[in-house]
Amino acid sequence: MKITVVGAGNVGATAAQRIAEKELAHEVVLVDVVEGIPQGKGLDMYQSAPIELFDTKIIGTNGYEETANSDIVLITAGLPRKPGMTREDLLNMNADIVRKVTDSVVAKSPNAIIIVVSNPLDVMTYVAYIRSGFPANRVMGMAGVLDTARFRTFIAMEFGVSVQDVNAFVLGGHGDSMVPVAKYTTIAGIPIKEFLMMHYKDQAKADERLKAMSDRARNGGIEIVNFLKSGSAYYAPSSASVEMIESIVKDRKRILPCCVRLTGQYGLDDVFVGVPVKLGKTGIEQILEISLDDEDLKALQKSANEVKQNCEKIKFS
Ligand code: NAI
Ligand code: 2OP
Repeated sequence: MKITVVGAGNVGATAAQRIAEKELAHEVVLVDVVEGIPQGKGLDMYQSAPIELFDTKIIGTNGYEETANSDIVLITAGLPRKPGMTREDLLNMNADIVRKVTDSVVAKSPNAIIIVVSNPLDVMTYVAYIRSGFPANRVMGMAGVLDTARFRTFIAMEFGVSVQDVNAFVLGGHGDSMVPVAKYTTIAGIPIKEFLMMHYKDQAKADERLKAMSDRARNGGIEIVNFLKSGSAYYAPSSASVEMIESIVKDRKRILPCCVRLTGQYGLDDVFVGVPVKLGKTGIEQILEISLDDEDLKALQKSANEVKQNCEKIKFS
């Protein structure tokens, strides 16, 4: 198993380190346009191997020769959001980057599975799909796992319970219109609405707290940007990317919310948006069409339409 990570910035470098520490590949290739950065970070990471006890080889480079025949390529190249900037502001700048990167990746690794992280996520995944010419099962974006992890964290914080007992799905585009789905949000199998009533014993308070947690998840990215001032979140984003990689590498068949191409599911066609999928060694092995309450289905469709509108703003070639 060989994994390439393009973009040796915060998300890319942290993901590379997590991949190595989990020994998900025999080789990780870290690529960036800035000379010295992938080489320096790669060597530094490699030197942690005797202490962290992994045998994954890490190579840093500014070219693509070393990436040849990668099984998985994680694309994190791009510009992060700054305070006051929306993800959509990044649209055209990052589309150019993702196009160039995809061309180079495909030339060297025609059989790879591509996972896009660069923002705006759903549009960039579409760019990588069109540009690569790969079948849709081999091109996906990471956002839902992160957005869901944020929602799960806020729920665990609210009730003082283990995050491990909190299950949820946040679907839709990776933006303000994402859809935390209460119907599939449970705490140790107990539906969140029931748990909220048990906890607060007051319907209005329960509704208010569910909305507050959902809104905080929706704004999870910008909350971190506002703290960091320059740059955006990367610990949870790299963990989320690696959870997807692990499911593919180990053929675990995890059911995870990922940004994938829909072809009629949820009444949506030819758009990349976050829905639950089964992830295994061939990539997206199944798209799950779960039943949603009317309100959530409408919110998912609205979110997907926003992604479509953004796709129309950039030139695909
Ligand atoms: P960063 O600025 O730390 O790293 C980005 C790296 O990409 C830089 O090292 C830069 O030199 C490199 N780069 C730029 N053009 C390149 C090219 N043509 N080829 C190779 N490398 C190139 O940014 P960070 O924090 O790592 O974020 C990366 C991207 O991921 C951003 O677009 C950010 O908005 C996005 N992101 C998406 C998340 C999601 O949930 N999908 C979560 C977190 C970040
Ligand atoms: C996030 O949600 C910046 O999209 C990134 O943290």
